[in-house]
Amino acid sequence: MIGSTDRATDSAPDRSDHGQYLSRNPAELDDVVARVRLEGPDALLTAARSARRAQRDWARVPAPVRGRVVAGFGRLVESNKEALASLVTREIGKPYTEALGEVQEIIDTCDYFVGEGRRLYGQTVPSEMPDKELFTFRSPVGVATVITAGNFPVAVPSWYLAPALVCGNAVVWKPAEYAAATARALAELAWKAGVPEGVLNLVYAEGESTFEGLRAALEEGVVDKVGFTGSSRVGRDIGELCGRYLQTPCLELGGKNPMVVAPDADLELAVEGALFSGWGTGGQRCTSLGNIIVHRDVHDEFVRRLDTALKEAVIGNPTQDVLYGPMLDRKFADNFDDVLGEIAPHHRVLGSESTGRITDANPRKGFRGDHSTGLYYHPVLVDGLRSDDHLFQQETFGPIVGVTTFETLDEAIELGNLPGYGLSAAVYTTDPATAFRFREGIGAGMVSANNSTSGAEAHLPFGGNGRSGNGSRLSGMWVIDQFTRWQSLNWDFSGKLQKAQMDVGAVEPELDYRLPADLRGHR
Ligand code: UN1
Repeated sequence: MIGSTDRATDSAPDRSDHGQYLSRNPAELDDVVARVRLEGPDALLTAARSARRAQRDWARVPAPVRGRVVAGFGRLVESNKEALASLVTREIGKPYTEALGEVQEIIDTCDYFVGEGRRLYGQTVPSEMPDKELFTFRSPVGVATVITAGNFPVAVPSWYLAPALVCGNAVVWKPAEYAAATARALAELAWKAGVPEGVLNLVYAEGESTFEGLRAALEEGVVDKVGFTGSSRVGRDIGELCGRYLQTPCLELGGKNPMVVAPDADLELAVEGALFSGWGTGGQRCTSLGNIIVHRDVHDEFVRRLDTALKEAVIGNPTQDVLYGPMLDRKFADNFDDVLGEIAPHHRVLGSESTGRITDANPRKGFRGDHSTGLYYHPVLVDGLRSDDHLFQQETFGPIVGVTTFETLDEAIELGNLPGYGLSAAVYTTDPATAFRFREGIGAGMVSANNSTSGAEAHLPFGGNGRSGNGSRLSGMWVIDQFTRWQSLNWDFSGKLQKAQMDVGAVEPELDYRLPADLRGHR
């Protein structure tokens, strides 16, 4: 049931007596956006079986026709853009302008993969023998189980759905329960675009049931690919589970994304980038800025300007013009409370008049809307961060960013790599040599020069290394390798058995030949 309004208090549980999960609007906790039943492990297995059955027919639909289905999906999303963006805002509290951007990202993704339906190229390859032709084909992988987080509740799922479907796979999608209504709306648009029901299966379940269901489905051989966007901790478990079944999942995990501010940087630009990527979406993007690594010479000025910008930033109701709204869901607010406990006496805390939840007793100047209805938190800027601080090492997933200093670029790169994540990184500099050296040294999968750590475009490879992932990439042509397998065909029309390596004609070079005097350069 979607869209019902139910009275509840701030401390009301998200689970009702009847095994239902209540997905609440984090800006207005009284507003129940969806009530869904969270299924047990069997649901994942049953959905994978039904996907397995449906996938065979779907794979027989010509790829350009599957591309047309993805085209229809994109057009339907476009005609429902405002409705879907409003639902994103209502269910996870993302500011409406950013929610519109998120929905646009689905449209861009579909636009890209419509073309892929006509381009799923294989190759013709010359054989080493006569009367023989070699080919390569991309075959669908089969059934993909896709498990997504709720911070990008529609854009990130579309990064899996559009390529998986165009490549001829069937999908079991387990979205975040706190984005249940949004997930249902996106699936509805895909079904209405012509994706057969069995080809896209939506399952609501909690983490533990999902893991058990996935294990059972892998054991039964009804899942061929796992896509997971979420925490590094769960990603590691999923990677381990898939490895046991000789599968390589597509893992898009956390980040501790550094921003290096060189002494020659345009500081105003760097402050703007830090504000957007550090505190936009309340710091709850996987590409959110984690640590600012600023050159000693510009540290004081940069921190002063960032602190001012942060104090002036408007926080509040996500339907209005704000830098960020509430935490996505209560569990993120609870986690953020723990993160705030990591602030130590050697830190200088800036950015707001206080830290923690914004309340009557702990107000935020210029707050837009009513703070008492939602899970709103003060922005935090922590100066004086040390590289062995927990705050420096771990993803925080909330509106907090730390600052530390460097002297040489090598030192900045080392600090950027130190936490061991490798999703995204940014450098602000006016010297191209600094930008290129940074790119070369930093371990991130995505690097920005003079732009923030967030804001990847839909047709570039998206993904990370180290604690951020296993090297898999979403988006653009790169994700096609996740959802297809190369198959080769060698076709012999010689009428006889020609043995590779053995029946190959050879031309012997005259290896002892040396150029004669008249063809030599020296006189
Ligand atoms: C994520 O947080 O999982 O680059 C995805 C960005 C967005 C996508 C983030 N386009 O910040």
